[in-house]
Amino acid sequence: MSEKSSEERYHYTPSKEPEALSVNPMFARKGEESVPKYKLPDNSMLPETAYQIVHDEIGLDGNARLNLATFVTTWMEPEATRLYMETVDKNMIDKDEYPQTAAIEQRCVNILADLWHSPDARSTIGASTTGSSEACMLGGLALKRRWQNSRCAQKKSADKPNIVFSSAVQVVWEKFANYWDVEPRYVSITPDKPYLSPEGVLKAVDENTIGVVPILGNTYTGLNDPVADIAKALDGLQKKTGLDVPIHVDAASGGFIAPFLNPDLVWDFKLPRVYSINASGHKYGLVYPGLGWVVWKDKSVLPEDLIFKVSYLGGDMPTFTLNFSRPGAQVLLQYYNFLRLGREGYYKVQKESQNVAHFISKEIKDMGMFELFTDGTDIPVLAWKLKEGYTKKWNLYHLSDKVRERGWQIPAYPLPPSMQDTTIMRIVVRNGMSMDLAHLLIDDIKRAVEYLDNLKGPMPTEVTHIRFHH
Ligand SMILES: Cc1ncc(COP(=O)(O)O)c(C=O)c1O
Repeated sequence: MSEKSSEERYHYTPSKEPEALSVNPMFARKGEESVPKYKLPDNSMLPETAYQIVHDEIGLDGNARLNLATFVTTWMEPEATRLYMETVDKNMIDKDEYPQTAAIEQRCVNILADLWHSPDARSTIGASTTGSSEACMLGGLALKRRWQNSRCAQKKSADKPNIVFSSAVQVVWEKFANYWDVEPRYVSITPDKPYLSPEGVLKAVDENTIGVVPILGNTYTGLNDPVADIAKALDGLQKKTGLDVPIHVDAASGGFIAPFLNPDLVWDFKLPRVYSINASGHKYGLVYPGLGWVVWKDKSVLPEDLIFKVSYLGGDMPTFTLNFSRPGAQVLLQYYNFLRLGREGYYKVQKESQNVAHFISKEIKDMGMFELFTDGTDIPVLAWKLKEGYTKKWNLYHLSDKVRERGWQIPAYPLPPSMQDTTIMRIVVRNGMSMDLAHLLIDDIKRAVEYLDNLKGPMPTEVTHIRFHH
């Protein structure tokens, strides 16, 4: 299939793009009928006018509630929104000025450390971040520094670090490797092992490996990597060779799912080899965008020389983040959710998402032309492919485009290298995707398939797909 980039498709520049915004005469004051679009206007405008211009333009964005592509929270209840509005002015770094926000952040770290079975949950270290991306960078940096320190102490070279993950890793780990000069070692996923296999890990690691990164809730498919099996394989390696390779679990999605829906799964600090874990507060943590978490098993596994101190109640508070200033409101919303939902509430919300995912999966399977890849069992995410040889008239990109006409945003994309010939479609079920909406979605998918099946000829193959970013 010929590919056009999303830039070509969605950001094409019309030959005569207006250089100015036209202001509706009902709002415009004299001389304000048109304002420059790409330069700072010379004059001010009324707040209502500025509001209306921005408000009107973002009307073209998709409906967040129908966005089944994102893992990120698109709905919180009114009390949470009220708290958000009350706290939008808080800067997380101003620990001395907002000591209670700082205390609540630390309490959230303790709660997560306890949820993930840290042996030292009350005094271990962790941080809130802008999302899992920053949290992964910090987890990776700590692994790298620890490895460097240990190599230097042994008078061995520390200039060729590598890190091991599967070829279905989220793009942030490619960034980590690129930005911090660490060689990425990809273990290819295969049709019979579409996850990070312990055998693959053992082949990839060596004395220069700073760590292994299994994912709990893979972005492509929703599958969990087998963390306990990987830890066991690395235990065996240490027994045989003395090589001690730590694990950072990227639990961006699964960190807020497994403890509630699959409490018997062993994946967290119960495994001594797991040094650190990240999760996205703004995904299944159920908070609006802008929040991630990283937590270390205990203080001993975070190298001291990475920690900075900020002033707090006349003393010092240790911090380890990339950003200096960032919003504090999301941290308070996380604590709100912890209080409001408790274990029982998180279980109910996640279970409902899983029920909806199972329902959609069954309906998709029963349609006959699709094969399920995942059905929402590990995290409430399902993915499917078109059965081989079903039709030459259309593919999943066409189906994705067709359901978009009704507002549903469901991405289609190829699996990562080594399985890139398989195209899948994926739905992320989140809080707010109700069973009622799921029934309407299934009707729309069936209508779209019927339309595509009944075409007189095939869809043009130059109709291209949106490049979906993982
Ligand atoms: C497994 C995994 N890791 C990291 C990330 C990056 O997370 P964030 O968007 O919170 O920065 C994602 C996002 O989807 C993810 O699925």
